[in-house]
Amino acid sequence: MNTIQLDAKQPSIRGRLRVPGDKSISHRAIMFGAIGNGKTVIRNFLKGADCLSTISCFKKLGVEIEEKKEEIIVNGKGWDGLKEPASILDVGNSGTTTRLLLGVLAGRPFHSILIGDSSIAKRPMSRVADPLRNMGAIIDGRENGQYTPLSIRGGKLQAIDFTMKVASAQVKSALLFAGLQTDGITTIMEPVPTRDHTERMIRQFEGEVDRNESAILLRGRQNLSNASVDVPGDISSAAFFMVAAAITPNSEVTIESVGLNPTRTGIIEVLERMGAYIQVEPDNTGESEQKGSIVVKSSDLKGIEISGSLIPRLIDELPIIALLATQASGTTIIKDAAELKVKETNRIDAVVNELTSLGADIEATEDGMIIHGKSTILGGKVKSYGDHRMGMMLVIASLISSDTIYLEGPEAIKVSYPEFFQDLETLTK
Ligand code: S3P
Repeated sequence: MNTIQLDAKQPSIRGRLRVPGDKSISHRAIMFGAIGNGKTVIRNFLKGADCLSTISCFKKLGVEIEEKKEEIIVNGKGWDGLKEPASILDVGNSGTTTRLLLGVLAGRPFHSILIGDSSIAKRPMSRVADPLRNMGAIIDGRENGQYTPLSIRGGKLQAIDFTMKVASAQVKSALLFAGLQTDGITTIMEPVPTRDHTERMIRQFEGEVDRNESAILLRGRQNLSNASVDVPGDISSAAFFMVAAAITPNSEVTIESVGLNPTRTGIIEVLERMGAYIQVEPDNTGESEQKGSIVVKSSDLKGIEISGSLIPRLIDELPIIALLATQASGTTIIKDAAELKVKETNRIDAVVNELTSLGADIEATEDGMIIHGKSTILGGKVKSYGDHRMGMMLVIASLISSDTIYLEGPEAIKVSYPEFFQDLETLTK
């Protein structure tokens, strides 16, 4: 593992930027392209390690995927175009690949084995494996089928009515992929709404899915078409520079063409409520996924409570929001976010340990964190825990630190943002 030295230069963040394509949408575009019929063209696909794992798994399942510089082309041959893989499917560090792929494979009449890295091996898979077993898939794995390596033999599935215990778009999406392969109507109830990229993409590929006040309803036996997918910039990647601009003096950043899907824009709401200068300009209409520009300037911030239905709308942004809160006056309370414990690492412990070592006043709770601002961020040795979002948060911390920060494990950042350091450099020049 590498360690990098991040000197305390205390720069301003200034300029315009397009961040790489959205991770969630990039994964789904490959998957829908593969199960659809015809040629799907994907532009601004995120070539981060996680989405490349999805491409490699679908290639092993017999799908023809062309990786060009500016676009990815998936030659979908429908559900039956997927074939039994001759070797193990390696999902790398990607929870989205693992869980959504299980949903796809649940209805395929063949055997597959899924394996990932040491972080994936700790992440709970029963949340998808259990309902998929109820629908008819045969899934086994380590510790009674709870963890990777997992094996799955798909087959004829029956539709289910399922009430999700955790708010997880990955669980919902896996069940939607499986539900598309049944003979009946699948009904899914979410405790609170989660990102809806899968539902939008079903429609974009000319399928049907409905939502009423309490449930998502999906008819089985749907054959999907192909599509042209323009992936918006990832707001979860943009969040690092939005926060960087808010907490560094004399800063102003504009992020262009970034995804503004309302199930993902919790970070905008948090910055607004904390008193940050933020302007949002939507720039497309009538497309499957909204996008636009976001401008953020240096701001005086105040602490707030972040909880309830807001949490799934910013779940991946909580590490960088914790850093933001160290620079706000007063107390920020993050609640209802126990899911953070089962991300790429335990993000409650990791954030609290690393920010405490940098001088922040932050404590862990059962389902979140309490942060008292405003603190001076000091230098010292920190680590990413192999987690891309921890790595990026700690790099942004070094922009305001009073001394050098040494970050162990920066290579994790390539999972979702391979060009992170180059983009940061263009904003700090
Ligand atoms: C994702 C859903 C979220 C999120 C992850 C991507 C997705 O996970 O944290 O980075 O693409 O559906 P959960 O569904 O586990 O909350």
